[in-house]
Amino acid sequence: MKAIEVRNLKKSFDGGKIRALNGVDLEVEMGEFISIMGPSGSGKSTLLNMIGALDVPDSGTIKVAGRDLSEERDLSRLRAEEIGFVFQLHNLIPSLTALENVEIPMFAVKHVNMEERAMELLEQVGLGDKADRRPTELSGGERQRVAIARALANNPSIILADEPTGALDSKTSRNILQMLQKLQDEEGVTLVVVTHEPHVAEMASRTIRILDGVIVD
Ligand SMILES: Nc1ncnc2c1ncn2[C@@H]1O[C@H](COP(=O)(O)OP(=O)(O)OP(=O)(O)O)[C@@H](O)[C@H]1O
Ligand SMILES: [Mg+2]
Repeated sequence: MKAIEVRNLKKSFDGGKIRALNGVDLEVEMGEFISIMGPSGSGKSTLLNMIGALDVPDSGTIKVAGRDLSEERDLSRLRAEEIGFVFQLHNLIPSLTALENVEIPMFAVKHVNMEERAMELLEQVGLGDKADRRPTELSGGERQRVAIARALANNPSIILADEPTGALDSKTSRNILQMLQKLQDEEGVTLVVVTHEPHVAEMASRTIRILDGVIVD
């Protein structure tokens, strides 16, 4: 079974005026770490959002962990069970603490002790001592680490990260990537990372290039 299988994926916006994806085919093996590069507006986020079941394609098929997204009745459940999503701008909820933010995805599935698990994850990303801080009381890198902890909440088999380090300095960026890479190494998590940064792409085992909504080379 492939981690991700995308076939002839098309997506347009504005009633067809903007063709964001123009027939994308992509296969990602279980446990693989791929990076996706391409110019601004080429369709990277659109592709990632479709794979993450955050948006639906116009045509084409997407299978995640063998599950055809068009046949899933409960996409939010599939998301919670299989996918961890790290957004470009962390998307943390400002009124909640780091700990509470990490607990959010766990509401969708049954967990023994959400608080304990959230604490464990924050410790894993080196923020055990900042669990009670709100996002505004954390640095950019720390917020991104909270976002990673949140993405890991339900032990996803796949992590989709949309420029997870775009706003960070290169040292912090490297730390965050190393954290993700460790998960791939030690737990066999599949990683798909959209990036503009060559040093991030170099860490991946394969780089996919996208241009005007199609994959080139
Ligand atoms: N919700 C939307 N409504 C209308 N157009 C959209 C929407 N989302 C994306 N687009 C358009 O689709 C195209 C692809 O956008 P996308 O966000 O996938 O690019 P990207 O490769 O992620 O770019 P960036 O590197 O700047 O993040 C762009 O032309 C964009 O303007
Ligand atoms: Mg984008």
